[in-house]
Amino acid sequence: MATLGIDIGGSGVKGAPVDTVRGDLLAERYRVPTPQPSDVTSVVEAVAEVAAQFDGFDQVGLTFPGVVVDGVTRTAANVDKSWIDAPAARVFAERLGKPVTVLNDADAAGVAEVAFGAGRDQSGLIMMLTFGTGIGSALFLDGVLIPNTELGHLELDGKDAEVRASDRAREADDMSWEKWAGRVQDYLRHVEMLLSPRLFIIGGGVSKKSDRFFPLIDIRTPMVPASLLNNAGIIGAAVTAEQAAGDPGAIQTDAAAARV
Ligand code: BGC
Repeated sequence: MATLGIDIGGSGVKGAPVDTVRGDLLAERYRVPTPQPSDVTSVVEAVAEVAAQFDGFDQVGLTFPGVVVDGVTRTAANVDKSWIDAPAARVFAERLGKPVTVLNDADAAGVAEVAFGAGRDQSGLIMMLTFGTGIGSALFLDGVLIPNTELGHLELDGKDAEVRASDRAREADDMSWEKWAGRVQDYLRHVEMLLSPRLFIIGGGVSKKSDRFFPLIDIRTPMVPASLLNNAGIIGAAVTAEQAAGDPGAIQTDAAAARV
């Protein structure tokens, strides 16, 4: 079954057909800027524009930067509030005319890293954290996703952690790597105190520059950069869509129930 993966982010909507056996893109990805305001109607049109660049696919896996339960988007920290309680999977499926699966963006990125990247063959509790517009989290126990963990919204120094330590905060406040790494370290220490994962996988665009800030962070948990970089969300969304369609080889996630 041919599957298109589309990643809805705070700044761009990106998609490509995915080889879900090898964990790779089958064509160069196509990107459009995330519409502003990022209301349901505008984003659905942006997704349709990305999908229109490709043909021959049977289904679509989509990521969303908020909580997704049974195809319904429940929160919208960094997108327009019209997404709160929107029947996202149904709306996308109607517009695209194909079956659609929707899952949280960090969960999707984690699914790809666990299947093909930095989390491959890791047992026990591991956590993917994405540092971008917000902070996304994905928790896996023995390779199985525990969805919608939302640990980017833990409180750090009296504020929402992502307001202090996301990559957007680093750029907006023009922070030095030292200053930002200090905040990321405080955040990671808090998460390791609460959950004691065996491994942190650090993703988001900034993970490409891990040599700038990893050496500045002193925590007990081993930490590795994501290896699929910008394509993890696209790949994880497609893998999840295939699993939802009943492919026995696919990874198990909760989003399976959300295929519309
Ligand atoms: C959202 C998460 C999302 C993360 C990264 C947070 O603000 O609440 O659901 O995974 O940003 O986009």
